[in-house]
Amino acid sequence: MEIRISGAPSKADAVVVPIFENRKLSPAAKQLDEAADGALVRALEGSRVTGKPGQTLEMIAPNGIDAGRVLLVGLGEKKELDALGLERAAAGAVGKLLTSGAVSAVLRLDGINRADEDAARAGLGAALAAYRFDGYRTTLPDDKRPSLKSFEIVADDADAAAKAWAAWSEVAAGVALARDLVSEPANVLHPEEFARRAKSLEAVGVEVEILGEKEMAKLNMNALLGVGLGSARESQLAVMKWNGGGDSEPVCLVGKGVCFDSGGLNVKTPYEFMMEMKGDMGGAAAVTGALRAIAGRKAKANVYGVIGLVENMPDAKAQRPGDIVTSASGQTIEILNTDAEGRLVLADALWYARTKLKPRLMIDLATLTGAMVISLANEYAGLFSNDDALAKQLLSAGDAADEKVWRMPLGKAYDKMIDSPIADMKNVGGKGGGSITAAQFLKRFVDKTPWAHLDIAPTAWKNKSEDPREPTWATGWGVRILDRFVRDNAES
Ligand code: BES
Ligand code: MN
Ligand code: ZN
Repeated sequence: MEIRISGAPSKADAVVVPIFENRKLSPAAKQLDEAADGALVRALEGSRVTGKPGQTLEMIAPNGIDAGRVLLVGLGEKKELDALGLERAAAGAVGKLLTSGAVSAVLRLDGINRADEDAARAGLGAALAAYRFDGYRTTLPDDKRPSLKSFEIVADDADAAAKAWAAWSEVAAGVALARDLVSEPANVLHPEEFARRAKSLEAVGVEVEILGEKEMAKLNMNALLGVGLGSARESQLAVMKWNGGGDSEPVCLVGKGVCFDSGGLNVKTPYEFMMEMKGDMGGAAAVTGALRAIAGRKAKANVYGVIGLVENMPDAKAQRPGDIVTSASGQTIEILNTDAEGRLVLADALWYARTKLKPRLMIDLATLTGAMVISLANEYAGLFSNDDALAKQLLSAGDAADEKVWRMPLGKAYDKMIDSPIADMKNVGGKGGGSITAAQFLKRFVDKTPWAHLDIAPTAWKNKSEDPREPTWATGWGVRILDRFVRDNAES
């Protein structure tokens, strides 16, 4: 679907006009209502739609309006309207129209948008709602196939809005990339294939370096390599660098990229849990998508990404419970559960980021613990940090981007729970606080660097979504909060 900004509405199959709470018409809605002799107001009065956010009313275009249909979309209270409201409303409109048969649509934001980002955020909502992962469906019935090909957003200052949309369209592309990666099955998206897709970011100006098992062995990255021992696929580390910020110290994003998590010899049960584990590279997908967005919009910042790509499989060569590995940092780890593998991958990836890239701060993303889903359901990702200022910045980036995080505690008492009697630490804690002990484990590899860990097990995929911006399953969660964080805190 093509999305564009214009200063005046083109003719289209569907015209989408906003209304506010208590059936207040937007300027565009008023214009159409007058042209149609009050037909819009009559339709509203005959319905239960009052203009609440998320409400829509679809009608055959009455005489006097040159279109096939009119879609009224609720924006809620006029004084509370913001960019996020427009993002949601545009997504709702696309959700209604995408497979409706309409080929073209015009969203009339004239009279109610601010030049900086309102129309562009509507564009983002439209793009998110138009996303599909249909490549593997060979028999999709005609009426399930998207019909909508063009979506025009009418803005007051079309030039400024088009410029803002050019940047936000790159964010949409980053989210789409992250969703694609999470949805790809593990027989297709194994570590080397993921690395190839990371490498393709060179097309937008990202420098990409891939380390294989030989290179990682030279660096003693045995924590990461141990996880991949049981796999027929070679483990990889992809390092992506966007240098848009001169000689400033980089922000480093680190991602867990377990392309499939069978649990290893501690095979994951029940089978319903393993069924979803092609998505266990959601952290790496978010980091890759964020680099795609940040490079695509040519951000004036230095942002690097490090993703550890492995497959966790049971095999004669697989690591065993009780094994002890020496991580690249020199710290030893007693592996008591081979299903607690994400922290092992991140231990060496964080070490690599810290010692080789010398970042001013690190943010890691990982589908790390089932316990995080128990804590937060699918509403928030968990935030852990050794730095209050960084935590605050992420909380507000999450609010602005509508990818919400909830801060969780860290502390000595939790740290003690991963002490091992025989090595420096063990890879599982006690009975409670599973997400926290996992975060404490990571903290042992970040030293003094300001660091935040986002446990995105709750949000990387959803089995059911009521949000028109999200498809079933892969959400692409993380791209928007990271992009926003960089926008607000790292750009010159
Ligand atoms: N990838 C899983 C965590 C997960 C579970 C993500 C459900 C998304 C949905 C992780 O590798 C894992 O298996 N964690 C274990 C840790 C335990 C063995 C200490 C868990 O959460 O059960
Ligand atoms: Mn696991
Ligand atoms: Zn895992």
